[in-house]
Amino acid sequence: MSTAVRFHDQHVDETGPSFRDDVIAGLGRSPKALSPKYFYDEQGSLLFESICRQPEYYLTRTEEGILAAAAEEIAALVGPESLLVELGSGASRKVRLLLEAMRPTRYLGVDISRDFLLQSTRRLAADYPWLEVHAAWADFSEHLRLPAGVEGRRVVAFFPGSSIGNFAPAEAEAFLAELRRALPRGSGVLIGVDLVKDHDLLEAAYNDAAGVTAAFNLNLLERMRRELGATVEPGNFRHRAFFDVEVSRIEMHLVSESRQAFIVDDHHFEFAPDETLHTENSYKYSREGFRALARRAGYRPDAAWCDAEGLFSVHYLSHD
Ligand code: AVI
Repeated sequence: MSTAVRFHDQHVDETGPSFRDDVIAGLGRSPKALSPKYFYDEQGSLLFESICRQPEYYLTRTEEGILAAAAEEIAALVGPESLLVELGSGASRKVRLLLEAMRPTRYLGVDISRDFLLQSTRRLAADYPWLEVHAAWADFSEHLRLPAGVEGRRVVAFFPGSSIGNFAPAEAEAFLAELRRALPRGSGVLIGVDLVKDHDLLEAAYNDAAGVTAAFNLNLLERMRRELGATVEPGNFRHRAFFDVEVSRIEMHLVSESRQAFIVDDHHFEFAPDETLHTENSYKYSREGFRALARRAGYRPDAAWCDAEGLFSVHYLSHD
């Protein structure tokens, strides 16, 4: 029993492309685009927490309701003395709905935002003194491996929040297949997946009235100013999010309000009026569509839970 968090530095930014490199490449592309993983600096992570509390953003509360209702069933599937690995652990709130029922021996939080990861895993360790808490600072979308010696009778990778929706379907399949290779046989993946639904409901979730999603999107430009000394003026852009039925995804963009130019680390960029920087895709699945994708990635979709209105789903995928 310990309240100390064991920290594993798996951060490999030195070898991979940096925020600077990706910004310069992404702004130089046509159409302009940037990976949504760059939303999550400290400010962005706080804004995302606030998005999750907005009334229009049904995803978080609906998934939490499903997890709370299914916790005993999930615990029965997994069995005792497991290692629970949370991918993109953020504030580690949802996992709390599972811990008492599941009683895993170890918890490993994996996140790209170091300070956020440390704060939330420390809180978890203090609140659950019977749990051995580990924190891995890593970009699991690029590189995934369990730290040496962090084991359990069964490993369960918990990937909540429909973060899988931020990958294109082919990438999601490749990511799940890669995750399967990183997990020992007998492991499972507990994953939250947002469902296709009424388009107004979907679009409202990404255009909250309080403007928090807009601030989250615009924070990418603030981050470029803070970290890269970019001369971009966030006030010259506006947030746009819409559902594209053809590809079943919400697209988020930063739209240029006028013709403008700015500099990022000696690189000059221009935007035409209404030209956009594409910042995120959030794919929405049918329950069966996601189960088929999981099968293609090599899993056996074991169980699926859903809320009464069919807004959101949680799946347990077995790696036999
Ligand atoms: C983290 N991810 C699943 C969120 C989503 O809904 O795609 C990120 C987000 N973007 C805008 N609002 C929330």
